[in-house]
Amino acid sequence: MSFNPLKEKGIPLDKQLRTWKDIAKRKFNKYDVDCYSRTRQILMNGIEVEAWNFKHAFSRFCSDDETKEFLAMTKKFEDSQQTTINWMSPADQSVLETTLGYEQVAVDLTAWMAQNEPDEYVRETFNFGLLEDFDHLYRYSQWAYMEHGINPNEIIQAQTDVILSRPTQNHHNCNILRLRRPYDKETAEPQTKVNIMTLVAAEQQTHNYYAEHGMQYGNETLRCTYAEIKDVEEEHVNMYESLADPTESLYEKLLLHEFTEVCNYYTCYADEVDEMMKPVWEEFLAMEIGHLHEAARLFTKFEGRDPEEVIGKKIVIPNHFESQKEYVRNILENEIDKRIGLDKDYTTIDELPEDWASYSIQETSNAEGSPTETTISTIAVQKGRDIAIADPKLVKQQPKLLARGLEDIAQAPNTVTVEEYEIMTQQEFEF
Ligand SMILES: [Fe+2]
Ligand SMILES: [Fe+2]
Ligand SMILES: [Fe+2]
Ligand SMILES: [Fe+2]
Repeated sequence: MSFNPLKEKGIPLDKQLRTWKDIAKRKFNKYDVDCYSRTRQILMNGIEVEAWNFKHAFSRFCSDDETKEFLAMTKKFEDSQQTTINWMSPADQSVLETTLGYEQVAVDLTAWMAQNEPDEYVRETFNFGLLEDFDHLYRYSQWAYMEHGINPNEIIQAQTDVILSRPTQNHHNCNILRLRRPYDKETAEPQTKVNIMTLVAAEQQTHNYYAEHGMQYGNETLRCTYAEIKDVEEEHVNMYESLADPTESLYEKLLLHEFTEVCNYYTCYADEVDEMMKPVWEEFLAMEIGHLHEAARLFTKFEGRDPEEVIGKKIVIPNHFESQKEYVRNILENEIDKRIGLDKDYTTIDELPEDWASYSIQETSNAEGSPTETTISTIAVQKGRDIAIADPKLVKQQPKLLARGLEDIAQAPNTVTVEEYEIMTQQEFEF
């Protein structure tokens, strides 16, 4: 890959204003869209929300007029890009259908990144978070059926498995324990920096989506399920953002934001199969190259350093969507009992001390039951079992996986037990 965005010609800032119609007119058809076109759309919406948020935060700490003017101009462009992308979701796509798309992003993006992440500790953190979003996909899939009568494969198109993972009731941690060791900005590779920034944007947007839409269902258990999983997404943002070196200056962060946008649009454009979306990725890539040139100029002016020291000489590939079933299955079978250790490290359930700080969080939060457990008992009442879509041999392993992946201490009072999974696993699910 020899594409060096600092040497490419982008769209200059004075040519980036677009009409309302151009901003808002595009919609995909939820029955026809490729699931990975939808995941790209969901991811790039998150990238734009983060770009816009960051520029507002930077402006509030900035006294330099030239910088403020650049931020003021491009906030508006980031915002209009966000509208174009997010509003590609058609009006008839339900909140739960969109939600399955969000968790498919989390699973398949994190799995791809973990395999392309040069830093071992960062990779381990990606694998850790991966199993949590994989369980969210399983829980929400039950609701997509119970509320809308759909097979989750209508959204995820059999590219991602739906099966129990590290149970969501065990994802609630002490947020101090969730903090990770940051990379060193002097030695970390651009791939690591862009991977983390991309994933933080995706997790933050997942959190925001649940925050804004979880109340759109009248079903109280489903509302509580959104509240429970939304809080895990907050933990994910907390965890992944703590991997970035906090001593990077605001100008360095600005440079990295624009570079992250360029890299993600480049990848979307290269991979896109959807005829409506492809030209959007192409145009927005050119807009972002325009932003990057300005950010690089400001970085050189205020830091006296060469931008290539931070972002290198070529593009990196932070997102590439393809089925990751085999990779995810391997992590599931080997790491379901993994937990956060006491020293910013990882451990397993059997090594946890009795006074592990997350136990008291789980005891308090789950005191009236864990809604993601009620999700499974509710569908079991209706259908005799849960929805699990994977290789039948793996589905049969659910009781065993649960036995290994569920903590004994601080269990929610409504936990669906290993014995109950053994009974459910004997049944067939009829859609
Ligand atoms: Fe943007
Ligand atoms: Fe999730
Ligand atoms: Fe997440
Ligand atoms: Fe930008």
